[in-house]
Amino acid sequence: LDPVSIIGVKRDGGQLTTAQIRAVVDGFTSGQVAPEQMSALAMAICWRGMVRREIADWTAAMIDSGVRLDLTELRRHGRSLPTVDKHSTGGVGDKVTLPLTPLIASYGVAVPQLSGRGLGHTGGTLDKLDAVPGFSAQLSPERMRSQLAQVGAVIAAASDELAPADRKLYALRDVTGTVASIPLIAASIMSKKIAEGTGALVLDVKVGSGAFMREYDDAAELAATMVELGSDAGVVTSALLTDMSSPLGRSAGNALEVAEALEVLAGGGPDDVVEVTLALAREMLAAVGLDGVDPAAHLSGGQAMDTWRAMIAAQGGDPAAALPVAAHREVITAADSGWLTELDALSVGLAAWELGAGRAVPGAAVSAGAGVQWHAAIGDRIVAGQPLFTLHADQPQRFDAAGAHLAGAVRIAPQRPPEAAGRIL
Ligand code: URA
Repeated sequence: LDPVSIIGVKRDGGQLTTAQIRAVVDGFTSGQVAPEQMSALAMAICWRGMVRREIADWTAAMIDSGVRLDLTELRRHGRSLPTVDKHSTGGVGDKVTLPLTPLIASYGVAVPQLSGRGLGHTGGTLDKLDAVPGFSAQLSPERMRSQLAQVGAVIAAASDELAPADRKLYALRDVTGTVASIPLIAASIMSKKIAEGTGALVLDVKVGSGAFMREYDDAAELAATMVELGSDAGVVTSALLTDMSSPLGRSAGNALEVAEALEVLAGGGPDDVVEVTLALAREMLAAVGLDGVDPAAHLSGGQAMDTWRAMIAAQGGDPAAALPVAAHREVITAADSGWLTELDALSVGLAAWELGAGRAVPGAAVSAGAGVQWHAAIGDRIVAGQPLFTLHADQPQRFDAAGAHLAGAVRIAPQRPPEAAGRIL
């Protein structure tokens, strides 16, 4: 193993061989390749890219750095259950996993949803669920299998044994400016999803200011790369591209987003959250052969809510408990009258983060009650003085920094904007 010559090949625009990729990923996992060598290689990959064969080799090496879960042979009432998972590349106000997981499970499908915590301006699904009193995301593979067989829905933390090379590499990329690379993002996401053992996977690739991918073409390339990696590994994989130029729903923050997810599960909720939830649900159901099923029926009929309650209870939570609320609130009103033409996702995400909903360093605590609610969506008529945002924080001194982000988030124009096309691109 000669890490310096491997770095040199990529620095000079060459292709790494299967053996070189295997050696460098294995060496990094075991400590033989130093972090500074891996960061130099990651930067070379950011600049030079990788061909599909290299990305597939890199993904396979990361999967083989840990264990693969076996989710075949999940059975209920003597019938074997298909498995399907969903992954979102992350955005502001994206609480869709919360209603979607029990919704799909209510159709007799097992949904092994392994999720993460948030870093920076995008929230993490597990941080949101931690707002539910008693809920635990730490499940052993055995408990996960038995809950999948009994309830169908599981939202849990990925075990340290799944793709440990990715865990180590992601921590390094995070602090060396090497996250923004389509090959590295695709391999990172797909190594974890393939190792998790799901039979099918639907990807929600976000596009816009609140997402990793600001441009449609980059998001489309990321989606195509991930679909190909999944399909080659025998996972039925498809992707939707969805808009993240403005935040999803009406709130960003942990307990605030659980409350909004509960509205969707009760058959209501913001139109855009329902739109994305149902679009992903149709893809997931089709991926396991349930084409033509209308998933809206189990939102209005209460089956998805029943499965949510069963999932929360199975993981130690109390589905009837009140959600935490922050100690302080502040309302920001509109300075002008007109039409709301812009509500920037990144600015809203940064405001929620400043209020305490997110973390700046891995492992830091987050506030369950903190966050932002917005009271208008793009295209709404605004009258000066009406409430635009409600801020929630445990410490009132956080309001000023959040307010500064929000001041730049909105544009109120004299003309009505064209009708929005919806979230699915
Ligand atoms: N999410 C991941 O899991 N990995 C990346 O590289 C980027 C987003």
